Amino acid sequence: MALWGGRFETKPDELFKQFNDSLPVDAALALQDIEGSIAWAKAIHRAGVLNAEELAKLSSALSSLKSEIANAPALPLSSSDEDIHSYIERRLIEAVGDLGKKLHTGRSRNDQVATDFRLYARAQIDARLLEMKEARRALIDLAECTKSIVTSGYTHMQRAQPILFAHWALAYQEMLERDAARLLDARKRVNLSPLGSGALAGTTYQVDREQIAKDLGFDAPTRNSLDATSDRDFVLETLSANSIAALHLSRLAEDLILFASQEFAIVEMHDSVSSGSSLMPQKKNPDACELIRGKAGRIFGAFASLAMTVKGLPLAYNKDLQEDKEPLIDSMQQLSMCLRVLVRVLDTLKVREDCARNSALGGYANATELADYLVGKGIPFRDAHDIVGKLVRHAIDKSKRLEDLPLAELQSIDKRIDAGVFKSLELETGLARREIPGGTGPKAVADAILQARVRLG
Ligand code: ARG
Repeated sequence: MALWGGRFETKPDELFKQFNDSLPVDAALALQDIEGSIAWAKAIHRAGVLNAEELAKLSSALSSLKSEIANAPALPLSSSDEDIHSYIERRLIEAVGDLGKKLHTGRSRNDQVATDFRLYARAQIDARLLEMKEARRALIDLAECTKSIVTSGYTHMQRAQPILFAHWALAYQEMLERDAARLLDARKRVNLSPLGSGALAGTTYQVDREQIAKDLGFDAPTRNSLDATSDRDFVLETLSANSIAALHLSRLAEDLILFASQEFAIVEMHDSVSSGSSLMPQKKNPDACELIRGKAGRIFGAFASLAMTVKGLPLAYNKDLQEDKEPLIDSMQQLSMCLRVLVRVLDTLKVREDCARNSALGGYANATELADYLVGKGIPFRDAHDIVGKLVRHAIDKSKRLEDLPLAELQSIDKRIDAGVFKSLELETGLARREIPGGTGPKAVADAILQARVRLG
């Protein structure tokens, strides 16, 4: 059904209609559109536009439409209506006759779509928050299982210092915790009620905007009708929070892809989240993680796309704003998949304790401990750094680890070194010296796991 046309002499050009129609995309907002319409019917009843009987009829017709679409979400797609608002209004008029035509009194599609989209964004944020919580749970569980596994920590992709594998898992839990906080913060600005803003200047009917906000579970009405009908930064903020989360997931996925390669061989991904090669029978590919890494581009693209759409738009509503739906819908769907798949990857991940330990033993990851040992002998750190550099050079020449060099050879480079040095070179010694809040010492990590679980709730 066309919601306009009285002033037009011809029907829309078919190609233009196809271009202009948004139903294939905004059908995703059907339930929100109905929810908003029920709240609006109540509002204009309170304002004296509808009597009690009319309100009851409209509400009940809208509610049955809601269950019908909830059971068959693709239903609106089979119609040729311009958008979801036209579809719902047509179906309402078919159900209750001319009374249905009263619903749009004092409302514009501009405040209507802003309302629907805020309800949609809010529901999606809440769903992502639950999924993020589950992903954080999986990371904390992984930390719990790996709190005694020593592995190599890297900087510049070079072995740097030994860490607990759990410490690595908890680093990503921190990122996801911030991601959830960002979404929750964006939710505050999403959760406002535009209804009553009309097309741009505010409705002429004396609706109770506070009550509409309450009816829809919004925190408050928006404050300016021009802004409310054209503001999309609530979407931008949400897309930006999604993008940062997706970037974190892509870093995590990349770490796991590297760790699963034969070169690292620190983890093994479960068959159920891996694929094979059509040519090479021996291959087991980390496709789940590669896709999580790859989706970050698309999720960030959604943010970039809407940012460019909004740039330079004059006040108030312009049809450009119809381009806001796909980015949010796609970003939410993709992030949801990434988070849910990640949980399966993490819950089935095998960490190979021996390989992890070997990686920490190789690469002279205990060189800093040796420098600290020399500092303990009263040698200034800069000099200690230089001495250890020479010792490492010597060990590389001999193809040995530092701890495998005989004491005499160590002393030939600096005679202040004594037999106590070997204790300082043990992995466990280095870890135990990092019992500082935020550090990788076993007690600090055990405590961090407990704290993370408390915050998870
Ligand atoms: N499909 C439109 C959108 O998503 C609904 C609002 C239409 N408003 C208008 N003034 N034509 O933006």
